[in-house]
Amino acid sequence: MLCVGAALQLGGCSPKATPVPLQPQAQFRLTATVQDLMDGEIDPSADALWDSVAYIATQAGVEDRKPRTDAQWKAVRASAVTLIEAANLLSMAGRRVANADSSVGLGELPPAQIQRRIEASHDSFVQFARTLQDAGLKALSAIDAKNPQGLMDAGGAIDEACEACHVTYWYPNQNRPGN
Ligand code: HEC
Repeated sequence: MLCVGAALQLGGCSPKATPVPLQPQAQFRLTATVQDLMDGEIDPSADALWDSVAYIATQAGVEDRKPRTDAQWKAVRASAVTLIEAANLLSMAGRRVANADSSVGLGELPPAQIQRRIEASHDSFVQFARTLQDAGLKALSAIDAKNPQGLMDAGGAIDEACEACHVTYWYPNQNRPGN
């Protein structure tokens, strides 16, 4: 009997030939906390994207900052890729938010409470991460098109995506100017 395609998936051949599905999370090791990802990957890569384009007016004139050389475009591209993939890391179920002894700022929830909120609405948390990823993908398209204005616009979308998740999970009770 020929054992290919659908027949294999339906178990039409010897059971030994049927691939055993991996447990969704079992093949991953979640070592970093959400806070580690923020500090180590998400914040630095977003900063690199935000800093790469700007119009800065000074007494000396207007600086039209944007990536110009291939090396500069390549560097900013690496940051976009990091941000996009870090959103996947953020979405993985079972990740700890922070170490219990991490400091809690004014208006911020303690890690245990953030953890409970994330676990109670994991699909929404993943959606917030996906929105960040979409904004990162916009940045990547702009970079691949060498389009500084597109990169600037994507920067705005990235900023909104950070803030939307933070006000929902991290500092829902904070009264901040503009909120
Ligand atoms: C899907 C949700 C989510 C998104 C999107 C998100 N964050 Fe966070 N972020 C969190 C949570 C939850 C915390 C609180 C964890 C902690 O630090 O205790 C946090 C904390 C932080 C911190 C503080 C880390 C520390 O040392 O306490 C920084 C900085 C940060 N985020 C930056 C960003 C930036 C920049 C973006 C966007 C580019 C972003 N975050 C997008 C969920 C998110």
